[in-house]
Amino acid sequence: MSEPEQKRIEDILKGEREVFKPSPEIVKNANIPDRSVVTAEAEEDFVKFWEERAKALEWYEPWDKVLDDSEAPFFKWFVNAKTNIVHNAIDRHLKTHRRNKIALIWEGENGDQVTMSYFRLNREVCKFANVLKSMGVKRGDRVTIYMGRVPELVIAMLATVKIGAMHSVVYGGFSTEALAERIEDARSRVLVTCDGAFLRGKVVNLKEIANEAVGRAGYVEHVVTVKRTGHDVEMEEGRDYWYHDLMSLPIASATCETEVMDAEDPLFILYTSGTTGKPKGVLHTHGGYQVHVSTTLSWVFDIKDDDRYWCAADPGWITGHSYIVYAPLILGTTSLLFEGAPNYPYPDRWWNLVEKYGINILYTAPTAIRGLMRFGDSWPERHDLSSLRIIGTVGEPINPEAWKWYHRVIGKEKCPIMDTWWQTETGGFMITPLPETPLKPGSGTKPFPGVFADVVRENGESCEPNEDGYLVLKKPWPGMLRTVYGDPDRYVEQYWSNFKEQGWYFTGDSARKDEDGYFWIIGRMDDVIKVSGYRLGTAEIESALVSHPSISEAAVIAVPDDVKGNVIHAFCIPTTGANPASEDELKLHVRKEMGPIAVPAKIEIVDSLPKTRSGKIMRRVLRAKAMGEPVGDLSTLAD
Ligand code: WTA
Repeated sequence: MSEPEQKRIEDILKGEREVFKPSPEIVKNANIPDRSVVTAEAEEDFVKFWEERAKALEWYEPWDKVLDDSEAPFFKWFVNAKTNIVHNAIDRHLKTHRRNKIALIWEGENGDQVTMSYFRLNREVCKFANVLKSMGVKRGDRVTIYMGRVPELVIAMLATVKIGAMHSVVYGGFSTEALAERIEDARSRVLVTCDGAFLRGKVVNLKEIANEAVGRAGYVEHVVTVKRTGHDVEMEEGRDYWYHDLMSLPIASATCETEVMDAEDPLFILYTSGTTGKPKGVLHTHGGYQVHVSTTLSWVFDIKDDDRYWCAADPGWITGHSYIVYAPLILGTTSLLFEGAPNYPYPDRWWNLVEKYGINILYTAPTAIRGLMRFGDSWPERHDLSSLRIIGTVGEPINPEAWKWYHRVIGKEKCPIMDTWWQTETGGFMITPLPETPLKPGSGTKPFPGVFADVVRENGESCEPNEDGYLVLKKPWPGMLRTVYGDPDRYVEQYWSNFKEQGWYFTGDSARKDEDGYFWIIGRMDDVIKVSGYRLGTAEIESALVSHPSISEAAVIAVPDDVKGNVIHAFCIPTTGANPASEDELKLHVRKEMGPIAVPAKIEIVDSLPKTRSGKIMRRVLRAKAMGEPVGDLSTLAD
């Protein structure tokens, strides 16, 4: 067992011993006061269960059939229904009291503020949709979006989808090669970006990175740039336009029809790391996805009409797509979007925001909680956090210490913690508490009703309680990815080949279930590394390292870290005859190619890498070396 796994098992054993029950008041007022009722409904007929949920939304035309599994694993949901997610996220609210309700509160790192009602959001989305149309963007096209956390990011996503195109949002913390690769794979003709983003008082020069990436990738004909930081940037005549210039032209009219889409038409591509090579474009569609994300948000975070909700993720990752942009808007919620870092200028920035905007629901990641916990209790204690009712976490396992700090110091022991397990591929929550669920620190508790998760052995038998195994999903669900963009074989191979006979989806995670049926995620079984909750592939980081001329081969591994969950250690073999670059230079190189989150904490130059006779790198041996531990059985080592 690797060191990160050992540490996690110790946490699980600690967490299992304690149960936290929600207050009767929380349970009584919850949207779903009794999980067993809805679970029974879903177990009786899961297709009908999801159909009932779909009826909460408006459809241009209803479905002929809820689930078509005739071409599994290429499942179809809400067959032949006509919809557009933007209709439910914006259009339908304009006919109700929500027209003048605040959809989005935005605060910049420098204190700038914008509030936007549903009415205004619609106008901005229509205007930008018309701008995109004027650039020739149409149904089925891909628009790449590479921005900081600004309202225009949300507007650009919705405008793209409104006219039937797909967005591919690339996280603003990625850098040149990561962006170029994603533009190229999606073959986007239009890129929307910012001049820069503020981060801890500094300016990240997004436009410079975008220009370089566009140069490398090809395909891009138009670049639209939002002015945020106001520094000088290079604009290429005929290719580059300022967002504000375009939005003031007559073409940017404030009325635009929402394109009628099929439920199974593509909605967006989001690139994520897998086992091998290039990141893969996870593809989601209009119909099932909106049913899944809106139901889960309503039930798990118990959204009420007058709530103020804050998901502190970045819109560039799935958490932001589903639970900053789409689900909250579908539910007609008021959300906060914050540009900056949690601890800038001081470690109480977040707590200040909770107090200032009266946030009722806060959703974040373990790494942020651990990071803020380090600064002690006095920072949150100087703020009134009493508006909080429910708090949540996502992205990686949470250790019991962090869970309890979050519960005691932030939630004042009255807010249940929703530890939500899910993936880019699942679209929405899969294993999660509801507000009524008794909690154990570090466990996501049980599958959401209508989700059929299990922990199994390699041969498909269910594991015994507390036995480690493969986390699988045994039935399809509406928010599931439909394919890997442009690579259906990879979709089948990656997710549906481990348990092919049974027709189950393999998550890539190992897990165990305890005697109460509570799920405990142990970690990834593949070459995915979670750093601060961000999902990275070893292959991508390794290829960034070998793109440096002085490095011929590289291997990276995850090493546990108290705040980030994991950090990256790299082992590099120098090119024959070359003097290897310094550790700092190599780190800078990875930062430039991939982005700051991918930079290894440590880079070691070595003469060789431990490999099996078939040439596979033995990461276990590297891990033992990095941790200063015995390497164990080396009988399969080639050399
Ligand atoms: C991990 C993020 C433990 C898991 C939404 C999964 C978690 C991967 C949790 C997906 C959680 C996510 N507890 N582990 N609550 N949530 N994970 O695609 O390993 O960025 O497979 O989606 O994150 O990462 P992704």
